[in-house]
Amino acid sequence: MAVTDSYLHEFSEPLGYLDFASIGPPSRRVQAAVSDAYGRVSEPDGDIGPPILGAYEAALGTAGRFLGVAPELVTVVPSTSAGLFAVAFGLAPFGGNIVVPAHEFPANIYPWLRAAGMGGPDIRLVDIPDRRVTAGALSEAVDDETRAIAVSSVDYLSGFRPDLTALRELADDGLLVVDAVQGLGAVKFPAAVPDVVVAGGQKWLRSGWGSGLLALSPRSIEMLHPTLTGWWGVEDAFDWDEPPPHAARHDAEQFQGGSPPLFGAMALAAALEVIEAEGMANIHATVMENVFAIEEVVMAAGAEVLDPWDDEGERSGILSFRLPDESASATTQRLGEAGITVSSRGGWVRSAPHATTDLAVGDVLAEVLIGG
Ligand SMILES: Cc1ncc(COP(=O)(O)O)c(C=O)c1O
Repeated sequence: MAVTDSYLHEFSEPLGYLDFASIGPPSRRVQAAVSDAYGRVSEPDGDIGPPILGAYEAALGTAGRFLGVAPELVTVVPSTSAGLFAVAFGLAPFGGNIVVPAHEFPANIYPWLRAAGMGGPDIRLVDIPDRRVTAGALSEAVDDETRAIAVSSVDYLSGFRPDLTALRELADDGLLVVDAVQGLGAVKFPAAVPDVVVAGGQKWLRSGWGSGLLALSPRSIEMLHPTLTGWWGVEDAFDWDEPPPHAARHDAEQFQGGSPPLFGAMALAAALEVIEAEGMANIHATVMENVFAIEEVVMAAGAEVLDPWDDEGERSGILSFRLPDESASATTQRLGEAGITVSSRGGWVRSAPHATTDLAVGDVLAEVLIGG
């Protein structure tokens, strides 16, 4: 399986770029969309509001179609954290507790900590040394007072993908909140399963910083309090004659404070169109092929792989490894000098190819790791 030439043509990262878990270089289509949007506001042809708002609405439609949910259940956020903060403060009045694996990326910890500091639910951080986030690993921390379980769809270090269906069951009356930034756009994702899905666009979605999406189930929209709802998130927001407060909207726009990241929305829509044209299944299969090829090289070099998974269904585009006689930072530096970009994280070398990765990179990788 390989992605099509028209998909490949959208991207131009260098051969050795294996760092999509940090930053995903955007497509030509994203660049063009953002440049066009700035052009339109720089030289307005009359009232710029309606066309920009029209493009925003269209972007929500594209995001909904991509996730397979109604457009009114999706909004655009400038970062993963922004979406998680909206949810954490939406749960702040309810007391109880939030269950989070202790090894989550900090973006999925601070919002809960800050909300707890303002009288919101306590945060229960669960140590899972092998990074296998399963219902069994979290179940002792979950009780009748659990308002949410918050996990990543893909662990930023190991690449482990938890069984979200099992976690949704465990959450019961609480919400399953999923930080999907490390997977969305690269590996298939059951958006209908969690109650909340948040993902910045700067990594695998390849739409750049300032773009991202927040999708909510009808149940979570009902449940969350409009703590951070600002002027954009209310009914008849543009009715200036009716003084505030207006009632909070009953769709995902409720979670907007002020103007949404409108340019980010256009970047996101462009990125999703590229994915849609290629097909998520094809992208997913190619990402996995590429990650398996990298795994073969690093194993041949005698590296240890961080592998909490039991089967392929628990794997993603991230593969972390370390050589027996060299620190991760030294390996990362050596690879960098040879033109291979990876990241050093927590004593591991984290590699993360996308579907555009050229497998010729395997030869360079082998030369550095085996020849080193
Ligand atoms: C799992 C995870 N969540 C969130 C982020 C980033 O959050 P934000 O989009 O708020 O910068 C990262 C990495 O930067 C991550 O690995």
